Amino acid sequence: MGDLTEYPGALKAYVEKERVRSAASVPLVGRTGVIGVMNLGAASSHYFDAAGLELLMALGQQIATGVDKARLYAETRARATELEAAYRELQEAQERLVRQEKLAVLGQLAGGVGHELRNPLGAIKNAAYFLNMVLEKPEPEVKETLEILEKEVATSERIISSLLGFARPKPPIRRKVDINEVVQEALSRTTVPEKVEVVRQLDATLPAVLADPDQLAQVFGNVILNGIQAMPQGGRLIVQSEVLNPEWVAVSIVDTGVGIPEENLGKIFEPLFTTKSRGIGLGLAVTRTLVEGHGGVIEVESKAAKGSTFVVKLPVGGKAE
Ligand SMILES: Nc1ncnc2c1ncn2[C@@H]1O[C@H](COP(=O)(O)OP(=O)(O)OP(=O)(O)O)[C@@H](O)[C@H]1O
Ligand SMILES: [Mg+2]
Repeated sequence: MGDLTEYPGALKAYVEKERVRSAASVPLVGRTGVIGVMNLGAASSHYFDAAGLELLMALGQQIATGVDKARLYAETRARATELEAAYRELQEAQERLVRQEKLAVLGQLAGGVGHELRNPLGAIKNAAYFLNMVLEKPEPEVKETLEILEKEVATSERIISSLLGFARPKPPIRRKVDINEVVQEALSRTTVPEKVEVVRQLDATLPAVLADPDQLAQVFGNVILNGIQAMPQGGRLIVQSEVLNPEWVAVSIVDTGVGIPEENLGKIFEPLFTTKSRGIGLGLAVTRTLVEGHGGVIEVESKAAKGSTFVVKLPVGGKAE
């Protein structure tokens, strides 16, 4: 429009307020059609001549192309993020499946073997007991051998029960439980070497938690034992309980041991993963199953040569699976 003062109506107010005398509107045409309009004003009349308009049209074209590109980029980005998320989900689902498959196979195998081994082990145990009874004054060597026999039988029994416990986990039998008491119980059941200092930081204001005390004692016992085993040269084991919020409590078990290399962090909860010559690699797998059976979570943080922290978080209400 060459001279806006020639146009009546609403434009008049605009012209007076903004002191605009001439105006040009350039459509911004993108790949999907008109995506906007660029309005320009000038203080003098007949400001936009043919050459100026052509220039503006070219400019409009450039802007539209720019906007198009930016939109396309944003769309591609969003789609890439979506794809990434879908891929991650798929990967997690696959890992879960593999884990479940592994667990099922292991469960069947362990259940069968464990069961079959119970009887012969029981017989060995009875035989050792019998020998102990009938030998009135056994030679020290014989006595020692019998002791080894009994100790190893006890170890085998422990392995079998953990295999069976893992293969056929029992649902938790819940009641109101003082978590601090369970922690103390787990500690008292564990043999702590002299070189390991145990520090208890138990929060006395902890609310009672609806949980299975035997299963939780096993949970804390497994993690405490791992902590101790990680400190063959000795160190400090901190066992801490705390209230996270009105619905959740946490028990942290911190050691100053060998730590877990980053590449192993993702594997330590897998059944049969172990780095110990005499380990079976079931401790943490059982632990996680039990914690999850309580609706809780177990988290780990670790630095090689510094130590590890395991945190067991439990819902106070003992939420069902
Ligand atoms: N506190 C810890 N410090 C360092 N490494 C640890 C710790 N806890 C667990 N790990 C690593 O995780 C692995 C798996 O632990 P898990 O308790 O499942 O099995 P394990 O202790 O090897 O055998 P077991 O079946 O007797 O418990 C261990 O072998 C060890 O490498
Ligand atoms: Mg263990």
